[in-house]
Amino acid sequence: MKAVTHDRYTDAAGLVLGDVPRPEPGPDRIRIRVEAAALNPFDWHLYRGDPWIMRLQTGLRVREPRGVGADVAGVVDAVGDEVEGVAVGDRVFGTIGRGALAEHALAGPASVATLPDGVSFDAGAAVAMAGMTALQALRETAGLAAGERVLVWGASGGVGHLAVQLARILGASRVDAVCSGRNVELVRGLGADEVFDYTAGATPAGPYDVVLDTVGTASVSALTALLAPGGRVVLVGAVGGGRLLGPLAATMRRAVAARVRGVDHRRMMAKVRADDLTALAGWLSDGSLAPAVQQTFDLGQALEALGLLEAGHVAGKLVVRPAG
Ligand SMILES: NC(=O)c1ccc[n+]([C@@H]2O[C@H](COP(=O)([O-])OP(=O)(O)OC[C@H]3O[C@@H](n4cnc5c(N)ncnc54)[C@H](OP(=O)(O)O)[C@@H]3O)[C@@H](O)[C@H]2O)c1
Repeated sequence: MKAVTHDRYTDAAGLVLGDVPRPEPGPDRIRIRVEAAALNPFDWHLYRGDPWIMRLQTGLRVREPRGVGADVAGVVDAVGDEVEGVAVGDRVFGTIGRGALAEHALAGPASVATLPDGVSFDAGAAVAMAGMTALQALRETAGLAAGERVLVWGASGGVGHLAVQLARILGASRVDAVCSGRNVELVRGLGADEVFDYTAGATPAGPYDVVLDTVGTASVSALTALLAPGGRVVLVGAVGGGRLLGPLAATMRRAVAARVRGVDHRRMMAKVRADDLTALAGWLSDGSLAPAVQQTFDLGQALEALGLLEAGHVAGKLVVRPAG
């Protein structure tokens, strides 16, 4: 089968799209015929080994070819002997770590959920990691309550554009957003009340009960001025930061400054949970959640898609369709 792999840490230009053996599921795994794979910055962090500190976990060197791509949607075409609750022919979506950019991918059954009939494979793949992250950041990390006012910073990105919609679904009374000028209309169309173009120097005034931040570019003093009493900031990710520490650098700077200024500043790491995937599937099904897909690609264009992802200004999501 065709798959995208890497046998060293490399940027998108050094990835290989080639033939590899079709994987066979072990007793506790399922195999998915991949209809759609959506891209996340997580993917390039893994294949670039960037930031370097991550290599303490992922290995100082790549010793065997590794697959690329976490988010997947497709049809189950093989099931291990010990798997219960998932059957051949089921439509599923989820997030599997690596290997989604391939004609077939292996997954643990707990990493996927049923994709309802009527919800496209593109939509399922597009919300898997980004939607779970936005949902957990708002509902659990921020503890968003109905009637609260939310600001999403980084609102045009994969996580941000779903957070705008999920904040509304979770009962926020006001959802404002920050993004670049070319994405203002997109974000307004997702239901944001007011959208601020950071490239034109526009800044929100607040007050907000929750600031969900995916870029980490605002200073803590700027955030302090935005928060209502009891307000909290949730930092999901950050741009830049250098090759050694990457987003961790901004995260640590923020955490120290927030402590000094007494700001309730929280970080989060999304967990793969089938229950959350099922909740997202329900909102996709009833139309209250709709991912924006900037562009779709076939598998032959996957490296081009990953190059675009690395540039860091995707509006919504990029989706690759291995099945053509
Ligand atoms: N903690 C977790 O568990 C978790 C889970 C998923 C993702 N993440 C992290 O969260 C971050 C966002 O993920 P994502 O999937 O939303 O990424 P994404 O789709 O690449 O979106 C990032 C957005 O950041 C904006 N941006 C880029 N440079 C900027 C700058 N200098 N100033 C302000 N905005 C800028 C871009 O919007 P404009 O083009 O409009 O500027 C872009 O749409 C990433 O760092 C990712 O690794 C963390």
